Amino acid sequence: MEAMSPTFSKAARPRIALASTRLDMHDLLGAALAQFGHVDWCRVEDAGDPASVQAALCWHPPADLLQRLPSLTLIQSLAAGVDHLHPALAGRSGLPPVCRVVDRHMGDTMAGYVCWAVLSHHRGMHEYLAQARRREWLGHPVPEPAGHTVGLAGLGELGMACARALRTLGYGVRGWSRTPKAQAPDGVRAYHGDAQLGEFLSGCDTLVCLLPLTPSTRGILNADLFARLKPGAHLINAARGEHLVTADLLRALDGGTLAAATLDAFEQEPLAEDDPLWRHPRITITPHIGARTPFTVILRQTLENLACVRAGRAPGGLVDLAAGY
Ligand code: NDP
Ligand code: OXD
Repeated sequence: MEAMSPTFSKAARPRIALASTRLDMHDLLGAALAQFGHVDWCRVEDAGDPASVQAALCWHPPADLLQRLPSLTLIQSLAAGVDHLHPALAGRSGLPPVCRVVDRHMGDTMAGYVCWAVLSHHRGMHEYLAQARRREWLGHPVPEPAGHTVGLAGLGELGMACARALRTLGYGVRGWSRTPKAQAPDGVRAYHGDAQLGEFLSGCDTLVCLLPLTPSTRGILNADLFARLKPGAHLINAARGEHLVTADLLRALDGGTLAAATLDAFEQEPLAEDDPLWRHPRITITPHIGARTPFTVILRQTLENLACVRAGRAPGGLVDLAAGY
């Protein structure tokens, strides 16, 4: 059965290239592609007549994507993040619309991940799991969520979903964004811009990074930032590995500036077997599973965006190329 998506006339049958230097997207998306059989999905390497390809669905595409496919009317990211597109797009002018995945379910899934990480540390769940393995029945004081403030660096699609979920659980919540937020969720204190970063950080017991990776945010999770949090804070990085200065994290944990870290994204994925992060007793590692979007949702968004472009309307999830996200 074909998944619901915009219909295209036979003459306008879309031709969409799958462009990745990291994985075989045709294999990865296989079953989902079959649900959109009215589309000609081709690997960028097998595109044949390049001028016939109207859109590219990308994950770390080749740096010469635009030379290979000169007639693109849409560049669609396979992910919410678009940093993987930078090598192919940086410094180019006259680009077609570039879109990213924006999906309510992704927000819900990330909110679940962040709530789990916050609770695990705040309620001492790692300790209870260790006790249970020893068959040891021992309760510790139960801390109140209202006495613990979670700061969300990044108050966009995912940050907002996390803010709402954490408020529901009773946590103090604050968020930081690039531009002012006219409408933060009830009870969420909103900060913005570099000038308010210090004030934002100074109240955080837990800091969650949900920023896009841009030149302004690369390396932002560093010693200087850690020192501005409440002493013994918990760091959760669910954004990109390049936000974090790993050596500073290890020093902050060992020196007591930070109490714990939960990391879901890494500069090199999969994380190498001999990476010291695996061995640190106060670091919890997950393999980039904070949020996922079903492939059918990604493909449907790609087709809807292509239909919008053809009709002269603004597509969804449009990336602000000047801001870099
Ligand atoms: P959005 O673009 O919706 O939100 C980004 C937020 O970061 C916005 O609030 C934005 O501010 C803020 N921001 C950007 N630059 C700065 C800056 N220099 N200073 C302060 N704030 C800044 O992104 P999403 O919420 O959809 O996704 C965030 C990131 O999460 C993605 O880029 C990706 O890297 C990561 N991700 C990780 C996943 C995982 O499984 N671990 C899954 C999906 C995404 P403003 O509101 O003013 O624009
Ligand atoms: C991401 C994603 O950007 O999984 O990490 O969408």
